[in-house]
Parts: sequence; C-alpha cells; structure tokens
Amino acid sequence: MKIDKVFLASDHAGFELKNELKEAIKGLGYEVVDLGTNDKNSVDYPDYAHLLASKLEPNCYGVLVCGTGIGISIAANRHENVRCALCHDEFTARLAREHNDANVIAFGARVIGAGVAISAVEAFLKTEFAGGRHERRVKKIELEAGK
Ligand code: RB5
Repeated sequence: MKIDKVFLASDHAGFELKNELKEAIKGLGYEVVDLGTNDKNSVDYPDYAHLLASKLEPNCYGVLVCGTGIGISIAANRHENVRCALCHDEFTARLAREHNDANVIAFGARVIGAGVAISAVEAFLKTEFAGGRHERRVKKIELEAGK
C-alpha cells in the first residue's frame, strides 16, 4: 500500500520519543502530521488517542506514544477505524502488519529506547499485510466483537 501520510500523537510522557519518531519517519520520505502534544506539560493520553483516530484517513498510518504505550493503545482501539498494536521491537512491528494488518503502532517511551522504536516504526511502515488465513482472523476480530 502506498502510504499517503503518517499521523503522530502522544501524551507528555511520549512527547520526546514522538518527536524523534517524527524526524525519522520524515527522513524515510513520508509525509507526517503531528497532532501533539507539543511540550512536556501533563495531558491525558485518551485525548490524543481519540484525536488521532478522528483524523486518521484511509491509506494512512498512525503512531501513538505514551509512557507505557498501554493506555494510548487501549483508547485508540475503541475506534472502529483503528487497529492499534503496542509494539516493542522490529519483530513485533513487522508482525503487527503482516499478521494483524494494524494501521496504528503504539510505543511506550518509558519502555524502549529511540533506536529500537525507530527501527520498529520503519519495519511497520514497510511491511505489507500477508492476507490469506490472517485476513480471516482479522475479520473475526470485528465480527465477534459485534461491530
Ligand atoms: C502518564 O503518566 C502515563 O500514565 C501514561 O503515559 C501511560 O503510560 C498510560 O498508559
């Protein structure tokens, strides 16, 4: 899939890692949209998860960062247009695309370093969904959740 834009958002705990990821993603040649937060003042991660979900367009991916990546990914996954994977390295990021067709990746800034997160986000952006048996399973997520 040709990616039109990559949307990024974080809370205060994820602010610095979000900025590092933004520069790395730009460096890979993708257009980025930074939805904030824009400093280290305390904010609530659900606000940024919901903001990204409301802005996310088709053929676009999202990157979310909070302290652990847990809260922001849970909040993002409440939205029908989002399948967000909390990833810890290149391996989980690649599989989040290949097997789960995730369109949003989440990171915990207090969990992983910038170098690992950058290699993970690059794998995420460059990996295609494998389809086949994985497509059946991904469809079952929505069906069996009653969506
Ligand atoms: C903020 O202190 C922290 O709770 C938040 O960034 C995140 O880790 C929540 O899941």
